[in-house]
Amino acid sequence: MTTEHPNSPQGYKTPVGILGVGHFVPEEILTNAELAKFVDTTDEWIVSRTGIRARRRATPEQATSDLAIEAGRRALEASGTRAEDIDLIIVATMTPDCPMPATSSIVQYKLGAARAAGFDLNIACSGFVYALITGAQFVASGTFRRVLVIGADCMTRLMNWKDRSTCVLFGDGAGAVVLGPVAAGYGIVGIHAGVNGAGGPSLTVNAGGSRLPSWSVGLDPADFYLKMEGPEVFRFAVSVMGEAALKALDNGGLTPEQVALFIPHQANARIIEASRKRLNLPPARVFSNVENYGNTSCGSVPLALSEALEQNRIQDGDLIVLVGFGGGLSWASAAIRWGGLQDS
Ligand code: UT7
Repeated sequence: MTTEHPNSPQGYKTPVGILGVGHFVPEEILTNAELAKFVDTTDEWIVSRTGIRARRRATPEQATSDLAIEAGRRALEASGTRAEDIDLIIVATMTPDCPMPATSSIVQYKLGAARAAGFDLNIACSGFVYALITGAQFVASGTFRRVLVIGADCMTRLMNWKDRSTCVLFGDGAGAVVLGPVAAGYGIVGIHAGVNGAGGPSLTVNAGGSRLPSWSVGLDPADFYLKMEGPEVFRFAVSVMGEAALKALDNGGLTPEQVALFIPHQANARIIEASRKRLNLPPARVFSNVENYGNTSCGSVPLALSEALEQNRIQDGDLIVLVGFGGGLSWASAAIRWGGLQDS
């Protein structure tokens, strides 16, 4: 029989919350001034149109799993969870180490999560929030007690460094959370997700899959790079970000006035500002670190959450809202009542 918990999304038998958070970014900082040395752009253009001042870039030896593992390790430590107690690992990424094995398998082995199941989830930049609400289902149903959800991407691997309309926007990074049961009234209190496939062509990586395998005759290196109709994606993002937040809140019977901290996907400061206005939130109740990292795709939301915690921007009992959006076109959101941690 399903037990009703106040403010748990419909169907949650057990309330599910975040027990610990961690993040990891590569060391190399690529500033706007450095980019301007090899692509026709300026610091002034990038800052005024996007709010981005720098991004991180993985070394040639570093792959997505390397970032994911370190972020995962830090989340485990923050939550006091041993790797061998993890039941499931979900890695959200659009830049897996390789098509097979899944990045989650590599993470499982290298973390020593001996009895964990694992899979990758790809829905572009919305991936982490999708993975969060997917992982939560396993805890909510009582199937698993500890789920490690990681969002990680090496977006610089998909950049065409001659395309100024995309290469200035993205960076590499990873963030992770450990999910588990929490006290009634805490944890994930509202969720929402969607896809509009008609908009898919506006944000693509065309080659390297089954339609255009990497060995196809006549491929251009540019076919492997990310391509984007910037203004089209911008319009989509501005409309979807606030709406997705409102729908997650509504799912939990909540309103924006109750939100202590809004943590949106870090793609562009102008998109974040537009959604802040849509939700009618004061600037102090919105978190942004896009300035330092650019758009790290699946890493973006958990990296922002992790830094928000480091900066003491979230207290027990606070209502926070996470929103991701991206290729697909896709979006996902989660409203979370922070805290409610229990023993064991
Ligand atoms: O997670 C994935 C989601 N992706 C996003 O959220 C991105 C959404 N889109 C955006 O953030 C914005 O559309 C961009 C930041 C990509 C572009 O800003 P915009 O204000 O929409 O500029 P635009 O694309 O309309 O371009 C305006 C001008 C163009 O020049 P002309 O045609 O007016 O002469 C571009 O060629 O800016 C030029 N431009 C640049 N100039 C200097 C484009 N990129 C650059 C650049 N440096 N890096």
